[in-house]
Amino acid sequence: MSEPRAKASPFLNTLDGFAQPTPPLWMMRQAGRYLPEYREVRAKAGDFLTLCYNPEMAAEVTLQPIRRFGFDAAIIFSDILVVPHALGVDVRFEAGEGPRLETITTRDRIDNLRQLLDPAKVQPVYEAITRVAGELPDETALIGFCGAPWTVATYMVAGRGTDDQGPARMMALKDPDLFDALMDRLVEASIRHLGAQIDAGADAVQIFDTWAGVLDPEMFERWCIRPLRQIVNGLRQTHRNARIIAFPRGATLEALEQIADLKLNGIGIDWTVDRKAAKARLGDKVAIQGNLDPLRLIAGGPQLEEQILNIRRDFEGIPHIMNLGHGIKPETPIAHVEKLVEKAREKL
Ligand code: CP3
Repeated sequence: MSEPRAKASPFLNTLDGFAQPTPPLWMMRQAGRYLPEYREVRAKAGDFLTLCYNPEMAAEVTLQPIRRFGFDAAIIFSDILVVPHALGVDVRFEAGEGPRLETITTRDRIDNLRQLLDPAKVQPVYEAITRVAGELPDETALIGFCGAPWTVATYMVAGRGTDDQGPARMMALKDPDLFDALMDRLVEASIRHLGAQIDAGADAVQIFDTWAGVLDPEMFERWCIRPLRQIVNGLRQTHRNARIIAFPRGATLEALEQIADLKLNGIGIDWTVDRKAAKARLGDKVAIQGNLDPLRLIAGGPQLEEQILNIRRDFEGIPHIMNLGHGIKPETPIAHVEKLVEKAREKL
């Protein structure tokens, strides 16, 4: 199978373990509603999933933040719910309400998920990746992604986003074997989807475990760490040099350390994580990415500039990627993103 392309990119060098003089920078959800040029394409597409499945438009919105801000990495415009959709689950995005899915809670329904990802759903994603890879500047990396099995399962079981992921936690507690059957399907689908994105031209992949933080330590081991380990090992069997980042939002330092021991290239941390402790416990194992509170980016002013410099100083000397601690919010002023770019790159 193909190997990641060799590129002289500060972002990829960081994932390969080399600290950079100034940290590479990108933002989770960087293609999105805070950008007028995104809103324009989004309006033309009409439906969110139509945008995801149109390679030309998906490539265009992926490139928009790169043109505007010159970030060090692009992330392909898609969604973590493309995977359940491609497994045959009914998925919709209602305007202003977020995702709505058919609920998957029975043995029958789990057994009847598609064996292979529906090409009609995933091929447009791979085609968009190949388009973007052909248009990016040499030094700009391209990131593919998927949701972690736990996070994707929380949407499949509840049929929507929930405040505490209660439905999935309850199913996992009441019928752990059935829940494992669902997780196994998602592990397998994730390995295939990430591998295909690398084949299409992605230089690195990120696994979003947005809801990792609601699990107790026992459940965390079984439904966050274990599937992640299976994905990393499975992906590296076909793509030995795959560069992998995990983003287990809300994970404790102990949990982050366990994840770093899976031999990933990078780990994303949210804004609640203590940087000095993270540096001490993770800094010699993986590149550390993130930590800036997205609300700081909205608030702006001196606290934003100070925090960007604090983050840089605290992670100086180790492989570090500047990013937010979660996705950028639609109400973020563009001028504040420009400030982030300036402060992330100025000489300390
Ligand atoms: O980061 C990027 O720029 C790449 C694209 C991307 C999107 N979603 C586009 C999107 C990525 C990486 C995601 C990941 C994703 N999707 C996650 C994990 C990361 C996170 O932010 O927690 C989750 C949980 C989802 C599921 C999802 N998609 C929800 C709950 C929603 C509705 C809430 C919302 O923000 O509107 C989406 C929709 C979505 N995915 C939008 C975008 C730009 C907004 C839809 C629109 O433009 O109308």
